[in-house]
Amino acid sequence: MSYGRIEHHPVLGPLPPAATVSFSFDGSHYTAREGESIAAALLASGIRTLRLHEEHGSPRGIYCNIGHCMECRVTIGAKSGIRACLTPVKAGMDIRSGTVLPTPFRQATKSDRSLSL
Ligand code: FES
Repeated sequence: MSYGRIEHHPVLGPLPPAATVSFSFDGSHYTAREGESIAAALLASGIRTLRLHEEHGSPRGIYCNIGHCMECRVTIGAKSGIRACLTPVKAGMDIRSGTVLPTPFRQATKSDRSLSL
């Protein structure tokens, strides 16, 4: 039994056997069921935070799980903005979470100005 994965559903029955694939997230290694989304595989491994908000640094994770909200964006290799809820895990994937980025176009808020005093 794995954390966060429904192994036996009361209506659908037991989870059928599947091959496993290995991948990494922020340098740590995990396994997933073949064909499983990145979001599902990470949730099954106890990972709920997929990135930090670019400006505020608040933790973000699965919200809609159908590809609409973009809250689950991760980086795979050199490609950023990949929706973890829609992307199947592949063997050897090197997945990284998003982090706080400089925001040169954001207008300074009153609290920003008070921090610089
Ligand atoms: S959780 Fe909403 S797009 Fe992935």
